[in-house]
Amino acid sequence: MSEPYYITTPIYYVNDAPHIGHAYTTLACDVLARFKRLDGYDVKFLTGTDEHGQKVEKSAQTAGIDPQAFTDRVSQNFRDLADFMNFSHDDFIRTTEERHKVACQDIWRRLIDAGDIYLSAYAGWYAVRDEAFYGEDELTTGADGKKTAPSGAEVEWVEEPSYFFKLSAWEDRLLKFYDDNPNFILPKTRRNEVTSFVKGGLQDLSVSRTTFNWGVPVPGDDDHIMYVWLDALTNYITAVGYPETESVEYARYWPADLHMVGKDILRFHAVYWPAFLMAAGLEAPKRVFAHGWWTNEGQKISKSVGNIIDPIDLVNTYGLDQVRYFLLREVPFGNDGDFSQRAMVNRMNGELANDYGNLAQRVLSMINKNCEARVPEPGAFTADDEALLGQARGLLADIRTKIDVQSFHEVLEAIWVVIRAANGYVDAQAPWKLKKEDPPRMATVLYVLGETIRQLAVLTQPFMPQTSNVLLDQLSQGADQRDFAAAGPDAQPLESGLELPKPEGAFPRFVEEEGG
Ligand code: MSP
Repeated sequence: MSEPYYITTPIYYVNDAPHIGHAYTTLACDVLARFKRLDGYDVKFLTGTDEHGQKVEKSAQTAGIDPQAFTDRVSQNFRDLADFMNFSHDDFIRTTEERHKVACQDIWRRLIDAGDIYLSAYAGWYAVRDEAFYGEDELTTGADGKKTAPSGAEVEWVEEPSYFFKLSAWEDRLLKFYDDNPNFILPKTRRNEVTSFVKGGLQDLSVSRTTFNWGVPVPGDDDHIMYVWLDALTNYITAVGYPETESVEYARYWPADLHMVGKDILRFHAVYWPAFLMAAGLEAPKRVFAHGWWTNEGQKISKSVGNIIDPIDLVNTYGLDQVRYFLLREVPFGNDGDFSQRAMVNRMNGELANDYGNLAQRVLSMINKNCEARVPEPGAFTADDEALLGQARGLLADIRTKIDVQSFHEVLEAIWVVIRAANGYVDAQAPWKLKKEDPPRMATVLYVLGETIRQLAVLTQPFMPQTSNVLLDQLSQGADQRDFAAAGPDAQPLESGLELPKPEGAFPRFVEEEGG
């Protein structure tokens, strides 16, 4: 049986329309899920929506509808975006589902039984936007006297009875856990931030609220609802069948291989979540990767500035695979990045249309015209031929190691090294000249190129599924010739004599509108 791989996105707050940040987190997971499936893993890819809490309740009030009807509507927008972006999730969880309520109440009981939850009262600052509690020392006071959290969110003073989780008791065990699992938090710089935060001392965490009721009721105390982050984090185990820890699904997929998150929510995933799980007697996930944030033409993206990037507009302007490629190529994954029209167009025209698109188009047209539209029969390979074929066949092993540390930009860079080498080879070998001078050599050169493009098209599928499929169609590859067993040194190479369809361009150029 194939090895399991369980990957999750954060679940998105349904307070607002989806934007580029949401699409980015899920895209990264989609590429990993597709990569692992093609590489023979049994993948479970989870995404969904975070529907409880004060922030969502307030948004529903503002919209003038009841929270359930509101969340039904907004959650659907996230599902629609996922379909539009060609995301391949296997499950979409909503925290208002019954299966999730059961899971939340069960983990609560385990925490009570373990003696890690006690009843007291909270008096302190709370930011509804972050759904987070803050200490006085973390806040900044503005000229208007208003206090804000480090995220820029406004805080309010809250005083209410509350259950607390004994987070303070978990400091040493968390630090030991990070030590024992050096790749639990990636990138490394984030890991250092988290460990110094924990070393700085942890305070017990308020895990229930009483001043509103849009949430999962605390078992045995109806005055309280569970803190939205305890509720939300639990989604990752609900989706694999928790509380049935003996179930096949749970045994197979838990602990998760990877929780992908933005840097803003790392603390919840790398500190609170493993502490909750360990306290409940459950295993912690294997890795949390925190990616960076996008700005828009150098500016922080925010509703008040009015510079939100709608992923649907972006795709309608540049094309789906172009946007998917750009987002993972432009920025070293983990760093912050800036979206600009110019960078988008440069990559789309330069790397996709010119480098990759022209390579495929030139080679396939020459085969179509000069080889009766069939894969040519190669003669003996020269050192140059072997060099290019060797580079192409070596790619899979190389990019596997890069994918395993979520280094998407390096994977794409490695693929482009081969694309550029193939273009150099076309120029050096000049097959159009060989047509008259040495037709058997032309056949060999076009074969080497055809085989290289086949390898490339197999390996670009996780990033650009549609376009890669167009290329594989043009190479007459069947459905069973598209997974990663078809790439690498042991693969079945392109079959001579195979009939190829008439080539069509797969990577359009972006043409600036006049005056635009
Ligand atoms: N509901 C919580 C997560 C609970 S997970 C148990 C939440 N939701 S969110 O909708 O606010 O954010 C989800 C993700 O979007 C986060 O990973 C966040 O980092 C990401 N982004 C939001 N804006 C972003 C950018 N401008 N750029 C990149 N990603 C950003 O937090």
